[in-house]
Amino acid sequence: MYRTHNCGELRLEHIGANVTLSGWMATKRDFGGMTFIDLRDRYGITQLIFNMDTNQALCELARSLGREDVISISGQVRERSNKNPDRLTGDVEVVVEKLSVLNKAKLPPFTIEDETDGGDDLRMKYRYLDIRRPVLQDKLKFRSKLTLEIRKYMDSLEFLEIETPVLIKSTPEGARDFVVPSRLNPGQFYALPQSPQTFKQILMVAGMDKYFQIVKCFRDEDLRADRQPEFTQIDCEMSFVDQEEVLNTFEGLTKHLFKSVKDIELPEFTRMSYDDAIRKYGSDKPDLRFGMEIFDLNEYAKGHGFNVFDSAELVAGVCLQGKADEYSNKNMKGLTDWVKRPQIGAKGLVYVQWKEDDSVKSTIGKFYSDNVLKSWVEKSGGGKGDILFILSGAENVTRKQLGELRLELGRQNNLIDPGLYKPLWVMDFPLLEWDKETGRFYAMHHPFTAPKAEDVEKMTAKDQAVLESIRADAYDLVINGAEIGGGSIRIFDRDLQSKNFDLLGFSREEAEAQFGFLLSAFEYGAPPHGGIAFGLDRLCAVMNGVASIRDFIAFPKNNTGRDVMIDAPSRIDDGQLADLGLQIDDTALEEASSGE
Ligand code: AMO
Repeated sequence: MYRTHNCGELRLEHIGANVTLSGWMATKRDFGGMTFIDLRDRYGITQLIFNMDTNQALCELARSLGREDVISISGQVRERSNKNPDRLTGDVEVVVEKLSVLNKAKLPPFTIEDETDGGDDLRMKYRYLDIRRPVLQDKLKFRSKLTLEIRKYMDSLEFLEIETPVLIKSTPEGARDFVVPSRLNPGQFYALPQSPQTFKQILMVAGMDKYFQIVKCFRDEDLRADRQPEFTQIDCEMSFVDQEEVLNTFEGLTKHLFKSVKDIELPEFTRMSYDDAIRKYGSDKPDLRFGMEIFDLNEYAKGHGFNVFDSAELVAGVCLQGKADEYSNKNMKGLTDWVKRPQIGAKGLVYVQWKEDDSVKSTIGKFYSDNVLKSWVEKSGGGKGDILFILSGAENVTRKQLGELRLELGRQNNLIDPGLYKPLWVMDFPLLEWDKETGRFYAMHHPFTAPKAEDVEKMTAKDQAVLESIRADAYDLVINGAEIGGGSIRIFDRDLQSKNFDLLGFSREEAEAQFGFLLSAFEYGAPPHGGIAFGLDRLCAVMNGVASIRDFIAFPKNNTGRDVMIDAPSRIDDGQLADLGLQIDDTALEEASSGE
């Protein structure tokens, strides 16, 4: 028998018990006549003790062990004289009577501890060692508990978990598809799903009423901390519902998950239109853990001879309270450089610093009197002691830049409480988004999203501005500035769906070729339906207050999309290529990569 208990289990009540434990040798400390070993497994760490006086051979065997050797021991539990309150097993230790070395380990390339000395690349290559670290195990345990609670909640509402295929036809979710060649159909390709969107809608036509799936999705897009090429959605769809019912159902799921997994009661979910989110926060995923709304200054700032403002579409600012005396010239220079970085792209930063001694320091003091500048600070919700930061330019760009600046100021000044959770529904997204480069509309969510009932008639308009003003019954769930989920009420009428494809620039033939199956399903009695998909990896990260989703995924890809442990993607042999009727043109590949 390998074990009677695991390494996280022993407590004072076990004193005197004879136990057998197995695990990995985490650390070893030799003191004259004694050797202490920390034995680790998934459940915790237990201290083992070997005594030179009572069993010299055993103690010497223990001293010969290396880090990460796999061992099994038997011995008696006793109370520790110097207890370790940070460890669940910290009250006891096991006096070892028998030790078997089950497997020797090579010296690991980094320390298997929460604070490891291993860099990212090394940890990814030896992911099995990385996952031995308790911090990582905690993240995977968290994810497992979360998925269990998702299933419990969805089951309690009679949702059915239904699997949909992974080898499919391309779904238009806005990213590139990963494709898989078909041997049996030479020259043809499957696409891996960017989401099960069309299948879940077809399940509604099929009468399944309430569907969900915890499902892998694949998107060939540029990677970021919160994006992986393969990630997991909690994908959901419901029939005979309106937007309100969908929002309530998934507000319920979110509250249940926070309560059951983190024992946190979420506050009421704020609702905000997309337009308001952009206007006030310069973002469609605002972090509501702090204030600092964008304040428009056009009516006060223009017409005073300051050309930069006079020629701008928008002059607006954010007010940082209580910091006027703290921000030095150096701070201001630092912030100005920050907004000028290409990622933000502002031309410069204007500020009005209303100091505690009532003086005003400003980059635009030449154009406006102190009293005028003070009145701007007051109008933006501030007063003496505060700083108003101002940007100007094209409206959309300026709001976005101010949104970024707001977040940076929030971070710099510790205005963001990491223990707070602020859920928000962003609603009424535009149906269509104009793309200047290609000169056509794209669906802001996806082509199956329904326009708001009152905007349907605008769909026949010819005017681009009218088309841009069409709102959709589409919503995103945002928590603490991260987009956790997105969904919509769907079009369930074939004619309206065809109209939407027209607006998106699909010819009848293209629409038929790509989505004929969905359009024809709509002819056989499609119920009104709608749904949402949550990003499971992102939900895990946000619930734990971290920006990166990587460590909530056992085997993630690195930032060039590689799995460095198994070394994928990789070349396949010529035989496999020949089976698929494919050939790799190395010269073309070289040209493509040198052109990048
Ligand atoms: P959407 O494209 O908004 O909607 O995706 C839903 C959620 O999935 C998460 N997500 C990602 N997470 C990690 N890495 C990625 N590359 C990635 N891409 C998306 C986000 C996002 O909010 N079919 C629709 C849903 C619907 O309409 O019901 C869809 O996929 O958290």
